[in-house]
Amino acid sequence: MAESPAAETVKPLFSAEEIARRVDALAGEIAACDLNDPLIVAVLKGSFIFAADLIRALHGHGLTPEIDFIFLGSYGPGTTGGEIKILRDVESAIEGRDVVIVDDILDSGRTLHFAKGRLEERGARGVKTCILLDKDVPRAVGVTPDFTGFECPDRFVVGYGMDLGHRYRELPFIGVIESAA
Ligand code: IMP
Ligand code: MG
Repeated sequence: MAESPAAETVKPLFSAEEIARRVDALAGEIAACDLNDPLIVAVLKGSFIFAADLIRALHGHGLTPEIDFIFLGSYGPGTTGGEIKILRDVESAIEGRDVVIVDDILDSGRTLHFAKGRLEERGARGVKTCILLDKDVPRAVGVTPDFTGFECPDRFVVGYGMDLGHRYRELPFIGVIESAA
């Protein structure tokens, strides 16, 4: 359990070791796809640790991808409720390339759907999607990830890059918050 200043605890759901094994397996799946001039696009901020581990695992599987970032924000009701806005767009050339979007968690599907559409519009040859956690909730928009790390219960999770109000990103594991009664 990790202690937070607010007397909450984070109960581990996926350990650092489990995550490392799964990330390496995902890298193997991606490397087997014979991608053309691959560009990894990490969705900021939540995927930054996952993406950092994934690209190093891809190196281990013989891939030499370029990496870029898209910073997306969601506005409206709830954490993931509303409209998606681009806070920082991908700078790399996209046309004719195979892009792999990397995100931390698939919830309503709006973020991934938006990012995929955006990169397709910009002329990618193909856009694949890689999600660390697939939350067990009904999707608001239809999007099926090509690569999935773990199925995840419908709980708010933190750690390994994911935050609650800017906290907990530094945890090496993924967990759910439990309030001290
Ligand atoms: P979607 O657009 O509803 O699929 O939401 C995806 C984004 O919402 C993710 O990229 C995360 O940034 C954020 N998100 C959704 N659920 C969680 C969670 O349980 N913990 C932390 N972030 C989350
Ligand atoms: Mg996100």
